[in-house]
Amino acid sequence: MKRRAVLFAPSVLGADPLRLAEAVESLQGRQDWLHLDIMDGHFVRNLSFGPHLARAMRRRWPDAFIDVHLMVDRLDTALSLFLDSGASLITVHAEAEPQLLHAVLSSIRSAGLKAGAAIGPATPVEVLRPVLGCIDLALVMSVTPGFGGQGMIEETLERTRELAQLRAAGGHSYLIQMDGGLNKDNVARAALAGCDVVVAGSAVFSSPAPAEYLEEMKSKVKEALADAGIGS
Ligand code: DX5
Ligand code: ZN
Repeated sequence: MKRRAVLFAPSVLGADPLRLAEAVESLQGRQDWLHLDIMDGHFVRNLSFGPHLARAMRRRWPDAFIDVHLMVDRLDTALSLFLDSGASLITVHAEAEPQLLHAVLSSIRSAGLKAGAAIGPATPVEVLRPVLGCIDLALVMSVTPGFGGQGMIEETLERTRELAQLRAAGGHSYLIQMDGGLNKDNVARAALAGCDVVVAGSAVFSSPAPAEYLEEMKSKVKEALADAGIGS
């Protein structure tokens, strides 16, 4: 069985905000995507960045795949701010405005971007079922959204497995992303559960050598998949 390669999306929330560009450069291009967490202080109890950072990142790294994770509850406002911010993909939370989810995902795609739908650890996977055919990415939060540096909730691995089964059963093609608490010691379990895109913030950026740390995470995934006979 041929398996898709696992992608790595370091989260700049884990970087020192005063040295964000240097932190990204310290990855030496080993990343696949750059993950940008947007928090509105209401959907989650924290504030982070805004569209000006997405724009600045796009200017600085014209070819980067910028993965914007919106942890906000005013989706209409957020979309008006982010659709032309340079994002490559925009992920919104299913909990934010459930009645708007389908329309919001369509707007993202109509703007020529990839669209993702996220669920927090307390939200049933079931809520994503109606949109599985119109997303490019399903994001399984492996911590409570809002803060970097938390420990991964092991039970969320089951939700990744479930989304992988739903994808196979429904003939869908979305990628499954896991976000929160991932590091070199648990990333193999995430990949084995079916995670296609690994987000990691503090583990990567608090390492003295972020590029090497990322390589270490990649090797752990490669080894685990090869041992399980599903390596690419
Ligand atoms: C948490 C954010 C994550 C965060 C991950 O709400 O969505 O993307 O940056 O950080 P770590 O890897 O430190 O858990
Ligand atoms: Zn995130």
